Amino acid sequence: MNLQYHTWLFNIIAYFYQWFFKSQVKGYSKNIDKYGKHLNIPKGGKILDIGCGTGAFGKAFKLKDESYEVQGIDIAEKMVKRAKMKNKLVCEHGDILKGLRFPDNNFDLVIAGMVLHGLDQNKRNVLYKETSRIAKEYVLFQDYSPRRKWHISIIEWIERGDYFNFVRSIPAEFENFFDDVQIFEINSHTAWYLCKIPSK
Ligand SMILES: C[S@@+](CC[C@H](N)C(=O)[O-])C[C@H]1O[C@@H](n2cnc3c(N)ncnc32)[C@H](O)[C@@H]1O
Repeated sequence: MNLQYHTWLFNIIAYFYQWFFKSQVKGYSKNIDKYGKHLNIPKGGKILDIGCGTGAFGKAFKLKDESYEVQGIDIAEKMVKRAKMKNKLVCEHGDILKGLRFPDNNFDLVIAGMVLHGLDQNKRNVLYKETSRIAKEYVLFQDYSPRRKWHISIIEWIERGDYFNFVRSIPAEFENFFDDVQIFEINSHTAWYLCKIPSK
């Protein structure tokens, strides 16, 4: 997948993403209510939302507990603009693949919602290494589950990501980077992958 195409596409669809913001937050909130107890986030915990888009995943955590310090990062400037201006989130422009400015062990939790399948295997590996570096204990990915669906296949064909390889290689590929992975089913085609980072 060409990262330039990806960034261009997400800049274009940033406007439309906004239409789904509320329902996205609702969906993420439901998952946090159900599985949040496994995340070990302390009061006032620091959370980084990678590939945050307009910020729905991070926003759901903030609504769950106002004390959480949530911030987002995204490569598409228009997504960042909407996250900040419309949704009042702390958010910055950046590319996870170039390495982030944060020190080691800086976050109580690093999250990424529907980001992995858009990146090819090499880029996912970079993301796994970088998230392991900046997280204290867990990295949480919400993404597709291994069961392929025809309607998702069409959407993902347009996105030109790595969906078709991704669904074949997870959860096994996590094992190369994380000590343990807990899988929580969200629906017929999506799951939470809670990855425990190796002790440092
Ligand atoms: C499918 S969207 C998901 C957005 C958001 N997490 C959500 O759940 O609504 C994937 C996002 O990842 C961002 N992204 C892709 N590659 C990235 C990279 N290398 N660094 C930072 N963000 C990236 C895209 O710009 C896009 O906003």
